[in-house]
Amino acid sequence: MNISISGAGYVGLIQAAGLAKLGHKVVCVDVDREKVQKINDKKPPIYEKGLKTLIQRLVPKRLTATTNLRDAVLKSQITFVCVGTPSMIHGEIKLHQMQKICEDIGQVLREKKAPHVVAIKSTVVPGTCQTIVVPTLERTSGKKLGDGLGVTMNPEFLREGSALEDFFSPDRIVLGSSDQKSIDALKTLYTSFKCPILETNFGEAEMIKYASNAMLATKISFINEIGNICKKMGIDTNKVAKGVGLDYRIGPHFLRSGIGFGGSCFPKDVSALLHKSLELGYHARILRAVLDVNKDQPLKFLELVENTLGNIKGKRIALLGLTFKAETDDVRESPSLSIIKEFVMQQAQLYIFDPMGIPAVRTLFPQLNYAKSAQEAVDKAEIVCILTEWPEFKKVGYGEKMVIDGKNVFETDKRPKNYQGICW
Ligand code: UDX
Repeated sequence: MNISISGAGYVGLIQAAGLAKLGHKVVCVDVDREKVQKINDKKPPIYEKGLKTLIQRLVPKRLTATTNLRDAVLKSQITFVCVGTPSMIHGEIKLHQMQKICEDIGQVLREKKAPHVVAIKSTVVPGTCQTIVVPTLERTSGKKLGDGLGVTMNPEFLREGSALEDFFSPDRIVLGSSDQKSIDALKTLYTSFKCPILETNFGEAEMIKYASNAMLATKISFINEIGNICKKMGIDTNKVAKGVGLDYRIGPHFLRSGIGFGGSCFPKDVSALLHKSLELGYHARILRAVLDVNKDQPLKFLELVENTLGNIKGKRIALLGLTFKAETDDVRESPSLSIIKEFVMQQAQLYIFDPMGIPAVRTLFPQLNYAKSAQEAVDKAEIVCILTEWPEFKKVGYGEKMVIDGKNVFETDKRPKNYQGICW
């Protein structure tokens, strides 16, 4: 099938590369000329495991990029919308890109005779498809939903660092629409997947995405709360999480305690759902608590450093790990950033290293010292803070230096000589 994908960010690019690998002819559309050029030059504009190899194999035969939305929409049967829905100050999401792209697609569809399906991948609060996407597309295209125009909400559940793996082995596919023809068109793309396909209405599909991320974030804040209690009692939370996770009703996943969750999804999605609920007159107490516990975890880490060093001013601190998790170059909402800010305020002497996150953080904090390796940072410092679970941090020689671990990087019997964990 011919497919166009509007928005070549993380989600759009993975969707594009994945569908092209399945045999479809895919064109990515983006307003960013540099990004478009990079894709056509077979250079992925983001780092994601396996993406480079795939792009090198698929461009230009089955995957290309363009800035020309009209052409891409006219030559395809389905358009995936993968534009950003960034947060505003109180957590609500901005829908201006979504609104604009729906208008642009609708205007192109006005000149198209053959039926066309618009599939929404962007994370949007429940009600958005029904009240914004469908009316905008109908108004600008002059068509009606179910009569030449299809719209489906098809949320993504991709983890950065294993996004391609998640694309090809999903737990489920969710297709939400009031138009069965749109759902059936989307289903044909996913026939090779062996997972359940759940058909819902728009609102249910939109909410499944938010509820899934809120549930995972809740598990993390929950184990961090248990971890904070365990720490006060000298109990290793990792052992506790293992014991708890063996209950099949709970499961072992997302029970790693530490400095809290970051990234482009959990903080933003939980905030957006909380904001939506407040708008509706409901105070979502669990969601509030999930965010509150998460905000405090970096402070717990700082407390440990202060307890060890006393006054932080002028102290030489190695800070290992900037990205919000390993196997990505993404530092969005990374707990490392709030920890750095606090150290900078307290005038610590920082030596910073991360295998992939330095370029992004250097633009935010150009005045800080960035080391060429973890070992170099450790050698210059009197204390070490580990903030991302990069496997290479296990191999560093820490000697007698105190290592404070926010991510449980080491197996219990392989921990450095002087060591403390945030919740263990
Ligand atoms: C998440 C969701 O998992 C994915 O389904 C969604 O569509 C996009 O958001 P991602 O943000 O890439 O994916 O990373 P994820 O692996 O879920 O981790 C998010 C954050 O939680 C990271 O900062 C991670 O370090 C932290 N985390 C995760 C924990 O602190 N403990 C855990 O047990 C698991």
